Amino acid sequence: MSQTIKLNLGCGPVQPKGWVNVDGSIRAKIASKLNWLDNLLVKLRLFPETEFNKETRVLNLLRPLPFPNDSVSAIYAGELWEHLKLSDAVKLTAECFRVLQAGGVIRLVVPDGIDFWSKYLAIFNEEVKLPIEERSSTRLSNHTAMFFRDICTERVLLKSVGHFHKWQYDEIQLSDQLRKAGFVDVARCKFHESRIDDVDLVERSDFLIVEGVKPGKPK
Ligand SMILES: C[S@@+](CC[C@H](N)C(=O)[O-])C[C@H]1O[C@@H](n2cnc3c(N)ncnc32)[C@H](O)[C@@H]1O
Repeated sequence: MSQTIKLNLGCGPVQPKGWVNVDGSIRAKIASKLNWLDNLLVKLRLFPETEFNKETRVLNLLRPLPFPNDSVSAIYAGELWEHLKLSDAVKLTAECFRVLQAGGVIRLVVPDGIDFWSKYLAIFNEEVKLPIEERSSTRLSNHTAMFFRDICTERVLLKSVGHFHKWQYDEIQLSDQLRKAGFVDVARCKFHESRIDDVDLVERSDFLIVEGVKPGKPK
């Protein structure tokens, strides 16, 4: 396949060379479009250091991707999909299919809902065995908050947007989303094992990883 554009969607601080690193956060916008102001605010210690820079491509991924059909060879999205409403994720998957060339690869990494709910169930099963007056909801609510609340509150002001998780995936849901959009050879993958040769540059999290391919012969 000819080397064309590779998109790293929802890049956050992960911005290697050779990839178009896309993010929609306010901080990405300031660091990219008003780089002098961002540098000044960092110097004055009003902003924390950031990896966002002039090269960061600022896009709201809830909108159509500004790339022509069949123009992209690979798409990576690490810990982005769970920040989108399910309907928005379905739309973005269709957009990814449109911009990828035949033979192009999409790779999605999300926290695994099965791990999350298994732990929840384990805590519940411990609590429910206790006499009613000794049961406490604290561990269950703390666990729930890990996914739905703390993700937002732990972030530094202006560092990022879209912190709340809006959906939770498992292997079946995520694979099905890709297949329904038209992708083939959809399968769960191991960390850093990919059809994308320099995936190690963008992949930081060993969570649930699913990859698919746009069908057809590469030009
Ligand atoms: C949890 S971070 C993931 C960072 C990195 N990809 C990684 O694997 O560690 C999610 C990123 O997605 C970005 N994001 C969330 N919603 C977005 C949207 N609608 N448009 C563009 N970027 C978005 C956030 O700004 C944030 O930087």
